[in-house]
Amino acid sequence: MSEYRSEHQGDWQVYLNGQWIPHARAFISVDDRGFVFADGVYEVLKAYGGRPFALERHLHRLERSAEAVRLRLPKSRGEFTQLVAELLSRNHLTGRDAIIYIQVTRGVAPRSHLFPAGVEPTLYLFAKELPPYPEWMFTEGVAVITLPDRRWELCHVKSTGLLYNVLARQEAEDRGAWEAVLIRDGKVTEGSHTNLFAVVDGVLRTHPTGPHILPGITRGVTLEVAAALGIPAEERALTPAELAAAREVFLTGTTIEVLPVTRINGQPVGEGRPGPVTTKLRRAFLESVRWHT
Ligand SMILES: Cc1ncc(COP(=O)(O)O)c(C=O)c1O
Repeated sequence: MSEYRSEHQGDWQVYLNGQWIPHARAFISVDDRGFVFADGVYEVLKAYGGRPFALERHLHRLERSAEAVRLRLPKSRGEFTQLVAELLSRNHLTGRDAIIYIQVTRGVAPRSHLFPAGVEPTLYLFAKELPPYPEWMFTEGVAVITLPDRRWELCHVKSTGLLYNVLARQEAEDRGAWEAVLIRDGKVTEGSHTNLFAVVDGVLRTHPTGPHILPGITRGVTLEVAAALGIPAEERALTPAELAAAREVFLTGTTIEVLPVTRINGQPVGEGRPGPVTTKLRRAFLESVRWHT
């Protein structure tokens, strides 16, 4: 079942290349480079009670992603902000929790690896109501598996080229786990669609930013919240052995916020229950959201 839902399934409106149209009538060309080459970047953000959280940070990351792959964004930050507001209001999402998706591709052109000249980027936005995740995920924590990180060296770019992430997440699902945690060169990088934190010897640890992880917005806010709470933190990658021995492990992401991990490859993390640091950080993260939305 889809994680997204809309009460207006039949008539929800999306934005595609300057037009507001029903989702059912939104189509792109088979020559769109997003379709042919995954030549595009995207963002996902969450609105709480209809108010987007960390919109500026997400738009900044979209700009950085586009810049990294030499893609011109067709809108300014101010224009994106207006589009997001209109998207929520057109879909009756003011006052609701919603997911907002923004995608830009290098546009439509006959298939050739070379950048096309004079082509407008494709711009697509949708928003949908985001129902709450089941409460047990936060009270009991989720299971993860570890897999080799076989992605490219530009993981800081939020590219639509997500095939390995898709394969990893599906393998986790097939093996009864919620997420696949990836290991590159003996270091834990991140999840297929989340960042990873662990508590080791009383210190919060997470992989440093760079080409091997996505600089998660939730990751950044979590580090700020930890600093404000006086929780010592270090941006230093964990080895798989450190991960296996960690007292606490949790994932961060826009829709799951701070999510405890209580099993790794079938083995319990710590006591097998969400730990105190994780619980404290989840609470403080949600307080920060309330404060900023
Ligand atoms: C690979 C990857 N890492 C981390 C994240 C978490 O990022 P954020 O907190 O900005 O949602 C995502 C989000 O989709 C992701 O795809």
